[in-house]
Amino acid sequence: MTKRQFGKFITVEGCEGVGKSTQTRLLKEYCQREGVDAYFTREPGGTPVAERIRGLILDGANTGMDAFCELLLYEAARRQHTRELILPLLKSGKTVFCDRYIDSTLAYQGYARGLSGAKIRTLNEWASDGAPIALTLFLDADPVAGFIRKGGADKTDRLEAEGAEFHKRVYEGFLRLAADNPRRVVKIDASGTKEETHGKIVAVLKQKGIF
Ligand SMILES: Nc1ncnc2c1ncn2[C@@H]1O[C@H](COP(=O)(O)OP(=O)(O)OP(=O)(O)O)[C@@H](O)[C@H]1O
Ligand SMILES: [Mg+2]
Repeated sequence: MTKRQFGKFITVEGCEGVGKSTQTRLLKEYCQREGVDAYFTREPGGTPVAERIRGLILDGANTGMDAFCELLLYEAARRQHTRELILPLLKSGKTVFCDRYIDSTLAYQGYARGLSGAKIRTLNEWASDGAPIALTLFLDADPVAGFIRKGGADKTDRLEAEGAEFHKRVYEGFLRLAADNPRRVVKIDASGTKEETHGKIVAVLKQKGIF
């Protein structure tokens, strides 16, 4: 009996407002049009338990949240999402796209909040449980421009309420991650129109043999 091939796992990363959700939606529409069998999900969340953890993390009322507590909640949500949804889909041979994954944790909680990168990597390994990322699309655009696109920060969202300096550190973190993982992470210029960025992403996915 031949073993069914693992599906491809693609993560979409980048700063607030750069267009991750927009591009994920455009990709979903592309897949529907072209008959590509793919599943689309997002972090934190993706399953009922993980969505409840998402609510805790993002709730602006949780002002006293310790940075390490925040990290553990993200990783708890990721573990549930990966075990319950992502790994079974990949094992069934499905292509899975995820809006944010391990690199967001390294960029936000590591580079921007200053938590230990080594600890985050260990927790990322536990939480992702060996889910192999075939490709990471890093949407590269000025983090301040992203904020303006979104019409400014939503003050009821704990992460968005952080200042410009924090978001610059997040961006620098993503640039470092892209430089450190050149085989996995592809930088996509996301400063143009939605359609231009979509075209660039589809070209990369074709070039990498995903589509
Ligand atoms: N290339 C673009 N040019 C102009 N506006 C854009 C572009 N891409 C997305 N937008 C708009 O910018 C806003 C933020 O986009 P989107 O929600 O996709 O970003 P995001 O990266 O998912 O943000 P978040 O990090 O908050 O989830 C939306 O109003 C969207 O319509
Ligand atoms: Mg989004």
